Amino acid sequence: MKTLQELLTEYVSKAFEEAGYDASLGLTRLSDRPDLCEFQCNGAMMAAKKYHKAPLAIAEEVVTKIRELWGEEIMTLEALRPGFINIRVVPEYLSSLLEKIASDPGLGVRKTDQPEKILIDYGGPNVAKPLHVGHLRSAVIGESIKRILKEVGHEVLGDVHLGDWGLQMGLIIYELSLRKPELIYFSADAPEDEDAYPEDAPFTMAELEEIYPFASGRSKADEAYKAGAMEATHELQMGRPGYRALWKKIMELSIADLKRNYERLQVSFDLWKGESDVQPYIAPMVEQLKADGCAHYDQGALVIDVAEPGDKIEVPPCMVLKSDGASLYNTTDLATIVERMKLFDPDEIIYVVDKRQSLYFTQVFRAARKAGLAHEGTKLVHVGFGTMNGRDGKPFKTRSGGVMRLETLLDEICEGMRQKIRENRNVRMEDVDATAETVSLSAIKYGDLSNQASKDYVFDTEKFTAFEGNTGPYILYTIVRIKSILEKASESGFSFKNEKLTAPSTPEEKALMLELSRFPAVIEEAARELAPHRICAYVYETANDFNRFYHETRILSEEDAAKRAGYLSLCSLTRRILEKSIDILGFSAPDHM
Ligand code: ARG
Repeated sequence: MKTLQELLTEYVSKAFEEAGYDASLGLTRLSDRPDLCEFQCNGAMMAAKKYHKAPLAIAEEVVTKIRELWGEEIMTLEALRPGFINIRVVPEYLSSLLEKIASDPGLGVRKTDQPEKILIDYGGPNVAKPLHVGHLRSAVIGESIKRILKEVGHEVLGDVHLGDWGLQMGLIIYELSLRKPELIYFSADAPEDEDAYPEDAPFTMAELEEIYPFASGRSKADEAYKAGAMEATHELQMGRPGYRALWKKIMELSIADLKRNYERLQVSFDLWKGESDVQPYIAPMVEQLKADGCAHYDQGALVIDVAEPGDKIEVPPCMVLKSDGASLYNTTDLATIVERMKLFDPDEIIYVVDKRQSLYFTQVFRAARKAGLAHEGTKLVHVGFGTMNGRDGKPFKTRSGGVMRLETLLDEICEGMRQKIRENRNVRMEDVDATAETVSLSAIKYGDLSNQASKDYVFDTEKFTAFEGNTGPYILYTIVRIKSILEKASESGFSFKNEKLTAPSTPEEKALMLELSRFPAVIEEAARELAPHRICAYVYETANDFNRFYHETRILSEEDAAKRAGYLSLCSLTRRILEKSIDILGFSAPDHM
């Protein structure tokens, strides 16, 4: 469906044209001065030079033309010095537009006419390490971008891209071999057949989480130990049967734990692939790079030059193999592109990864292009996000200064939220836990997403969990308020139709309707810019507009049944648009809070 702004632009452009001017001058946009008008067109000022005429005279001509063509059916106008055209939308036109939005299952959001297959690489957790707050942003932003792109009609696949192959696996295996050398996994005649091993893993998730940091710490202080871990990594990668079997156990346990955590965050992936999956692609890829002459040896390492003439900063060569022949992070990412092309042939791959990896992705993308690993038309995009800081402005830590687990953060916020909700007494005892979980998630996700992704932000628990202000709970509170109005209306037997809106009669009602009419444009813009924060800004405005309307209007006590039904339809549409918006952001609203 065309947006209100597009429709107005079309009308005004037509008037410019009919009055003898260039149609493109009719560009109409939201007003800079909402106190004076709702939309404005500055085309007359731009026309003045070209047509050697006073801008005000042109504006007046255009205004007259619009009145001639459509009377006052669509907009009321004013031509103002030096040449502004100020526009207000006619109330009946606005309500009929909203009726179209309300009757559309997609609430007016257009499906793109160029649907693409898009793969989003987000999450990026490392196996055998618990999710910590550093993983929050990738998951939350990636999930929302996935939902936004689906909303406008793209085919989207989310891939978690596990870090499941590097030294961390060798460290765990090596440490286990010292602790429990008697295990069958370490015996010299460990069976080839994976089914021959015990069903249960020889450790719990808690043990695994203790083993990794222990081994990692020790390897930094103890050379021989490190060598042992590197050897174990190498043997794993060469396919030593016992190690492969043990690796599988680590993966199973770890993935189950990751799934549980992501589920709690309401983040999901279509693909659970990882760095290990692309190992078979590495050797042929390296061969091709050498044969093409695309890669060359530099001090023993195999590299691809990726510097370009216009570079503002130095872009070092992309290393494909280290001088000892070992592959590295770059190698897996390049091979992953090869695999993704082969299996999915996407039009675009979006990497939602910390912006500190931006130079790295520049190298990888250029190398992939230069080597022809990515198809010509396939876009490679890095959405780099900033750091989540604590109130001290430094990267978020626990009170004792350690890395905070994501679970702990969620638990702590939920605990505080439970108390708040109990105090408010709007929720039945048995629903408190589930409600607290839902509201906490909104606090965390909205707190994150409302900032432009590329910026660092301060994670301020107190601020994010407040029921007032620009927060997730405030948005939910507004939705809950609407739900309760609609519930009471239905208890009183008041009927209304979702698709039937009445023309606004007060400024607050009109402001809310204008805001609702922007919904399709906001989602389409968020999709173009990969910018969930645009949707956050929109839901906040909409919630504010609704609450202003609510405070100025007697909805349920309105005696005129037709008027009351109009209000209720407006409430219902506001609710649908807010709920759709937060669903796209990745959270939902409870019934009470
Ligand atoms: N596992 C990596 C890390 O912890 C993030 C992976 C991001 N995705 C990618 N394709 N490189 O830093």
